[in-house]
Amino acid sequence: MERVVSGIRPTGNLHLGNYFGAVRAFTQMQHEYDCSFFIADWHSLTTHPRPEDIVRNTYTILAEYLACGIDPERATIYIQSDVPEVLELYLYLNMNAYLGELERTTSFKEKARQQPDNVNAGLLTYPSLMAADILIHRGVKVPVGKDQEQNMEMARKFARRFNTIYGVDYFVEPQSYSLGEKALKVPGLDGSGKMGKSEGNCIYLKDDEKTISKKVMKAVTDSGPTEPNSPKPEVIENLFTFMELVSTQETYDYFNERYADCSIRYGDLKKQLAQDINAYCAPIRERIAELSADTDFLSRVAREGAERARERARQTIDEVRHIIGFRARQ
Ligand code: TRP
Repeated sequence: MERVVSGIRPTGNLHLGNYFGAVRAFTQMQHEYDCSFFIADWHSLTTHPRPEDIVRNTYTILAEYLACGIDPERATIYIQSDVPEVLELYLYLNMNAYLGELERTTSFKEKARQQPDNVNAGLLTYPSLMAADILIHRGVKVPVGKDQEQNMEMARKFARRFNTIYGVDYFVEPQSYSLGEKALKVPGLDGSGKMGKSEGNCIYLKDDEKTISKKVMKAVTDSGPTEPNSPKPEVIENLFTFMELVSTQETYDYFNERYADCSIRYGDLKKQLAQDINAYCAPIRERIAELSADTDFLSRVAREGAERARERARQTIDEVRHIIGFRARQ
């Protein structure tokens, strides 16, 4: 089975944009590929040197991914900092990563601008740590967003360079894996095109019924159609797109017809949408609550995930040490 690797940024709770955009696709991929998913807690040190409650945060994320359907029996899910072998590979990759190319990456330049008082070496070598995350599993497919393209190019470059320097054909160049149709875009309800944390318009998986309802009722609309069969402006289209994700076809058709004959009442539509979002999220929300309360289970999942990841990681490190010329580790 082909190996898939992806890192999860430990920034906050999952929202519906994450869910339909990637997490749900991950749960499908675990049936088709040999998947490793990990929470990238080391990476977060590049921007947050003193994370407030890192253990609790990683457990929250773990609980949310499991609640969405990541199955620890199928996929290897672990916390990056539980797999120290990654650091040894990171060191080797750093020895062949050049200052110029690291400085030229867009994300480094951007972060250096954002935090001028903390332009640390970890920030500079973010791409080599990410490459190590992937290459430690000899992963070939990496489902990431467009914003990670440059990091992926670097990972390929580092893999290639390692092979060239040591005259081997060891690492396979990892490819970005486009989720394609498995990834659905969730619109923002504030008139912006997309639901996102930076847009501040998220419905979170942990949101309760009242919170969901409040957020949906605030959705931006217009004054309503005046001509039959008129095209929908973007803010209205967004509501319908949302319905396609969580409502039944009948519900969608019902409101679509009301729109077409100008009898639609947006208040009714929003109420229905809030109800359907809540019905969709409720089982996931309940599962999040259950799992979050069961820290014994979460720590067992994390421990077993790390054990599986380390087994493979140790093999890679032994082979890499051999290639470079070090003795195998005792
Ligand atoms: N850089 C990725 C992001 O910001 C997270 C990440 C870290 C990652 N290591 C990875 C993704 C390895 C894929 C593979 O989203």
